[in-house]
Amino acid sequence: MNFASILIDWQKESGRHGLPWQGSNDPYRVWVSEIMLQQTQVATVIPYYEKFLSVFPDIQKLAEAGLDEVLSLWSGLGYYSRARNLHKTAKLIRKNGKFPENPEDLAMLPGIGRSTAAAICAFSFGTRAAILDGNVKRVFSRHFGMEGYPGDKMVEDRMWEQAESLLPENEVGRYTQALMDLGATLCTRRNPDCMHCPLSGSCIARYEGRVDELPYARPKKALPCRRTAFLLMERDGRLLFERRPEKGVWAGLLCFPEADPSEFSESEKLFSFAHTFTHFRLEIEAVRIQGNREGIWLAIEEALSSPIPVPVRKILEKIRSPSL
Ligand code: ADE
Repeated sequence: MNFASILIDWQKESGRHGLPWQGSNDPYRVWVSEIMLQQTQVATVIPYYEKFLSVFPDIQKLAEAGLDEVLSLWSGLGYYSRARNLHKTAKLIRKNGKFPENPEDLAMLPGIGRSTAAAICAFSFGTRAAILDGNVKRVFSRHFGMEGYPGDKMVEDRMWEQAESLLPENEVGRYTQALMDLGATLCTRRNPDCMHCPLSGSCIARYEGRVDELPYARPKKALPCRRTAFLLMERDGRLLFERRPEKGVWAGLLCFPEADPSEFSESEKLFSFAHTFTHFRLEIEAVRIQGNREGIWLAIEEALSSPIPVPVRKILEKIRSPSL
């Protein structure tokens, strides 16, 4: 049996049934449910969906309503642009006279992306159209061992191709529901239930023991970078320290005085290194300067047993034994 037929059989047995938007192929009802389900869990959506459909049983009623009425029925679901787009689209469709019946036309309407358009057509008309939402990306990435972050355009393009090539000839609606159900109930982000998965026998992530690694997480953004110079001022075998303010980075610790590194010539610079904080990267230039000012003068050993931040400790250890 192939991927689609395994899923279709599994959906009949073990998928989710009896949800209020199932069992109807009225595209209006399907559309409203798909929009509500875009960013919200099934259990939360159900009461909102039922209320919404009782107030706006068809697209005419929705198109005639005021935006405030639509928004107040949405209140609590969040992501209110979904409700604004729903209302806007209802008016557009009423003006055009007919609900679009193919995914390309549907995807031109506000709030309806490629995957949602395909789901609406698969459920309402049985159209052979592929979906690819976050859950489906996770299923594909694990089952086919697809590398890369699925939000990346190239990875996503490969997944769309995969999605298209897996579509069955028949029962596309059930297959679509099966993919959604598998991602939501078994192939979950955390603690997936591989023991009950109908596809575990052919799942590459499972075979390779990489279920927790796939899909790849979003790559970390490069941290913003700041530069500073740490001034190493020496007098009688002691170095100058300052106590940091009680607020901010390294609050209350002893640190070298700081300055803008561009003020110094290359010959004054000893060495440089980076220290990474959660929100930025600090490039530190250790600079040796002449001078004599008020402050806390400490021998290296004394400083090493005082409250100092890690980069200050690194510098002290380095100048204590210059071979480090
Ligand atoms: N999530 C998105 N569409 C869904 C649907 N039709 N059923 C269950 N969960 C969904």
